[in-house]
Parts: sequence; C-alpha cells; structure tokens
Amino acid sequence: MTNMLFGKNLVSIDDISLQNLNLIFTRTEEMKKLVKEKGGDSRLKGKILAALFFEPSTRTFSSFISAMQRLGGGIIPLNGMTNTSIEKGESFEHTVKVFSTYADCLVIRHPQVGLPKKSCLYSTVPVINAGDGIGEHPSQAIYDTYTIFKHFPHKKELIVSLVGDLKNGRTVHSLAKLLAKTNRKIHFNFISPKILKMPEEIKRNVALYHHKIDETDKLSEKVGMSDVLYVTRVQKERFTKLIEYEMVKSYYQVDSQILKNAKKELIIMHPLPIAAGEINTELDTDPRSIYLTSQLQNGLYVRMALLDLILRKESNG
Ligand code: CP
Repeated sequence: MTNMLFGKNLVSIDDISLQNLNLIFTRTEEMKKLVKEKGGDSRLKGKILAALFFEPSTRTFSSFISAMQRLGGGIIPLNGMTNTSIEKGESFEHTVKVFSTYADCLVIRHPQVGLPKKSCLYSTVPVINAGDGIGEHPSQAIYDTYTIFKHFPHKKELIVSLVGDLKNGRTVHSLAKLLAKTNRKIHFNFISPKILKMPEEIKRNVALYHHKIDETDKLSEKVGMSDVLYVTRVQKERFTKLIEYEMVKSYYQVDSQILKNAKKELIIMHPLPIAAGEINTELDTDPRSIYLTSQLQNGLYVRMALLDLILRKESNG
C-alpha cells in the first residue's frame, strides 16, 4: 500500500482518510509485535522529533518520546516552554521556524485552538497536533478507535457512549469525527450536563455519515445498552468561572453500582487523567476497564506507527 502519510501533517481528523487509517492500524500491529519481541529498532536513526508542549501532558508527551526513541530517533523534549526564548518574547512563528530547522517532525500541544494548524504555515517539516485547547486530539482518537475495533473485531454496529465534558473535551471531538468516518455503524450517545454539550459542528460532522445520535444528561439510561463507555474529565482549565466548574465537576461518577445492568462485554475507556472521581478507583482493576491497560498501551504503538509513516517513505515495516 502506498504510504500517503509520508511528509504529511496530522492536525485534525479531517487529515485522515479511511485508507490512511487502515494503513496506520496495520503498521500499529507491526509496532506492537516489534515492541513485544525486540523493544524497538533503528529505522528512524538520524531523524529528530521536537515535542513542543505549551500545555501540561503526561501520556501524549511521554508516549511520543518513547515512540521516537524505540525507533532509534532523537528527541528535543520540551514539556513546558519555560526556559525557551519565548520567555524573552520570541514569537510563536519564529519558535516554530527554529525548531523545524533542527527537527524532522514537530509534535505541538497548545492551549489555543488552531495553533498546530497555523504552525504548518511556518514549519518546513510535518506537524502533529498533540491537542489544541478545546479543538482536537487526532492521535488520541486514532488509538482510541484502534482500541475499540480491537475489542470488537466483528461487531459491525457499535453503541458508543461519550460521557462528561463534551463541550471542552478535544479527545471526544476527534473520536466522534473519526468513528463516524469508519465503515462501522455507530449509535452515539452524547451524555453530558446541559452546559457541556457536544458542539454543533461536531454533531453536524457525525450526522454527515448517517449515524444515530442520542443526546441526554442521564447516564443511567444509556449504560445498559452501551458497548463502549468513554468517560471524560470536566476540563477545569477551560472554565472562566470556577463556580461553574464546581457545579459540574462531579456530575457523573461511574462506579460498580451504575454498571449493574451493563453488558458483560462493555469496555470502559478514559483518555486520562481522571481528576474528579468521574470513574471510581474501584473500577481500575475491573476487567471491563481498559484505560490503564490496552487503551494506554495502544497509544505508544499508534504513535510509533504514525512517526514511522510520516518520517519514512518506504511503505513496508
Ligand atoms: N490523554 C492525554 O492527552 O493525556 P495527557 O494530557 O497526559 O497527554
């Protein structure tokens, strides 16, 4: 299969075709095998990744760093931009130009929607969006979709319940958009407090593919039918009034009680971090919970696949 991702930016799910997604999933399988058997190899020797994180991160930052190093590449790891010349007033444009001179790929997280996309205007190397404010988080959505499909390889129709802060949660924006364009039939349940509903733009995008969408604030009504319960954190950092955050931060608390009528095949996902008890810790070791196991592991394999495909023209592993 031709590698159409070589040299390309990944700033939005709009950049991913179904054909590209299949290519990424195939390469992800190879990466999983590679890590398990050998830990990695040196296919990206001589390439450098600059990780420019203007917002905090644990998983995205460290898994991209790990992915690059497992493939033999070098890194410029900036988890926070303190001690860079941004503190002296250097512009975003110049910062991107500088790092794209030193690196072969930029992974950028920024609090402002659209900044990773804007950086493509200044960068001479591919840019991967590692989360832009309340916008998108495409690499997360790719590994979430991979994880869901691995758990349900033969189920053509899936009921996916997205729960929590659907207004500000970039992971659910990208996940809804990506699942919608796959060849599975999805029944989406968008479950949120009324002030945190899924943006109209995302709903319109999903509706283009003729999937069923139900919207509610009542989690208990949707748990029993769900194949996937994808819970999200209420994004404190996006609120201008703390009092409004306090009112909704613990609106949903998924625990064994609310799961009493759940399907036994249900999978419980969360992009992490869990910050306000939206999933009770009693579920951390429940076999249905995969947020600390396969969902997390797949983040590494998918990011290895993405770096390999974006940085190497060869279509074979
Ligand atoms: N899921 C996710 O983006 O986690 P981090 O904020 O820790 O990168």
